[in-house]
Amino acid sequence: MLPCGIITISDRASRGQYDDLGGPALRAAAVGYGWQVAAEALVPDERSDIQRAIRLQINQGCQLILTTGGTGVALRDVTPEAVREIADREIPGFGEAMRMKSLAITSNAILSRSLAAVVGQTLVICLPGKPSGAVECLGFVVGAIPHCVKVLQQVPTGC
Ligand code: MTE
Repeated sequence: MLPCGIITISDRASRGQYDDLGGPALRAAAVGYGWQVAAEALVPDERSDIQRAIRLQINQGCQLILTTGGTGVALRDVTPEAVREIADREIPGFGEAMRMKSLAITSNAILSRSLAAVVGQTLVICLPGKPSGAVECLGFVVGAIPHCVKVLQQVPTGC
């Protein structure tokens, strides 16, 4: 089973001003895909907190990390910047596919700076903050995730 981590990135949810709905929505989706949710975190929109949570989940053995929130255009939205700072490389196709497919659902999808990046040997996918949007976007790219994770873990796959 693919060990996966989930990080909700939200100032208000981390202050307890509202319930974290994005993390549980992604957990349910991950379980539905047959993955093992090995770690979960809730952090404010701060670069250092986001980076610390990612590093911690990598140390806990997560081969895939899903984040939700902070991809938009508000001044506090810093998820892409935080992830890029610690990434070894970015995989642009994930963000491209998420925006392209989401535009058929909402014109606001163009505002999301969703992305995927490799940190060490872990695939980090940054999804929008709206729970339904995060689950939708994950569904648009899920087909490429197992192969990507296998390649990053250097398990021979035959292609
Ligand atoms: N993508 C999908 N598939 N469905 C959605 O509802 N919401 C959009 C967008 N992407 C959405 C979506 C909205 S309203 C915003 S503001 C951006 O994601 C960024 O969200 P975030 O800042 O909460 O990460």
